[in-house]
Amino acid sequence: KKHAENLLHARGKFSGRIGYVLAVAGSAVGLGNIWRFPYLAAKYGGGMFLLVYLILMVTFGYVMIVSETALGRMTKKSPVGAFHKFGKSLPFHLGGWINAVIPMMIVPYYSVIGGWVLKYLFEYIRGNANLVAQDGYFNSFITSSMEVEIWFLIFAALVFIVILAGVKNGVERVSKVMMPLLILLAACVAVYSITRPGAVEGIKYFLIPNLENFSWMTVVAAMGQMFYSLSIAMGILYTYGSYIGKDVDIEKSTTQVEIFDTGVALLAGLMIIPAVFAFSGGDMETLQAGPALTFITLPKVFASMGVGTIVGIAFFLMFLFAALTSAISLLETSVSTLNDELHWSRGKCCLLMVVVMLVIGTASSFGYGIWDSVKILGMQFLDFFDFLTNSVMMPIAALATCILILKVVGFKRMDAEIEQSSDFKRKKLYHFFLKYLASACVIIILLSSIANVLG
Ligand code: PFF
Repeated sequence: KKHAENLLHARGKFSGRIGYVLAVAGSAVGLGNIWRFPYLAAKYGGGMFLLVYLILMVTFGYVMIVSETALGRMTKKSPVGAFHKFGKSLPFHLGGWINAVIPMMIVPYYSVIGGWVLKYLFEYIRGNANLVAQDGYFNSFITSSMEVEIWFLIFAALVFIVILAGVKNGVERVSKVMMPLLILLAACVAVYSITRPGAVEGIKYFLIPNLENFSWMTVVAAMGQMFYSLSIAMGILYTYGSYIGKDVDIEKSTTQVEIFDTGVALLAGLMIIPAVFAFSGGDMETLQAGPALTFITLPKVFASMGVGTIVGIAFFLMFLFAALTSAISLLETSVSTLNDELHWSRGKCCLLMVVVMLVIGTASSFGYGIWDSVKILGMQFLDFFDFLTNSVMMPIAALATCILILKVVGFKRMDAEIEQSSDFKRKKLYHFFLKYLASACVIIILLSSIANVLG
């Protein structure tokens, strides 16, 4: 019986550093890089946005990734268990659970968007490149309710299959195949895009910082994007950290994950911004269309190039890989927390997540269609869950991690954990930013979110 118990609660494990880095990179590289980063960069100052983003990434982002991963490995638990290792009172409880419920709330609506990607890929494969480029196509699709629900269910089923296969056989194996393919596809589409006539202006706008384009919104948007893109403050890095051995160099892995994530964001920018410049002569309104850029503008750009089908398939396949590996990390974290806290089997935890997925996912699928009269704080379901998690809960979750380290765990224990397998070259930087910047930045994000709601 004891053996069976051990088996039931045996912790999953990555096979080594490469598997771990690719899985974390798979989590980080997602909708955020391909669908969010390019339009934010276009909107908030092009090269200037990029510069601010990079600075925040190597300071604040680095500190958060290293901290969450080290805490996960130190405690061998997902966020709730990790916080509980240091105390059982209410603040620890809240700190852990806020980190843990975020992925449970994100994964359903994220899978709805994943379903949109699947649908577009399917249409491109069927040779409907011109159809999807038509005016009103996207709108009529997302308001169709049942069709959106069906694609959402297919996407969600794919994610569940990988999670049921386990950490090494599912998560790691899929990441190892999909991530290199993703880079290859992204590079091909980017090269195609930057070699179009008229694309040079777009490349310049995207890559060269211009002080005139700087505003405080640049900093606020870059910071929010950094959180989003690196999968910080949603329990994922605690969970993945708990799946690695003491021999994995956390510092080196973090650097590699950041290079991967930024590399794909850059490629996405190079795919999209120059293509839109070539297509519309740099019309800012087209570029700043926001989320619609990927699903409305891009198909038009592809169709106008005359090779819509091939480029469309490559683009949406890459997009699908990015979305899948991120959704996998969100679900893995959710299941892992339930497994730790309820002591249920993985299968049973998955079943509970199926229910959560169905409820929030269906609300998000129908939110633009038959349920569009139902609004929360003036937002449709999908937008509401996105806002609640990203703008309200994630800053609080990050703050909880900072406070846990500064007030309870202490630098000494953190350093010892990290130094087990790394010479921790950036120790001083780590202490400095954790002490002063991390909490300050988190407060700024929180204030900006509150201002957002009130304004
Ligand atoms: N980091 C991933 C992305 O950029 O898409 C995963 C993710 C981030 C999912 C933020 C959800 C989220 F709200």
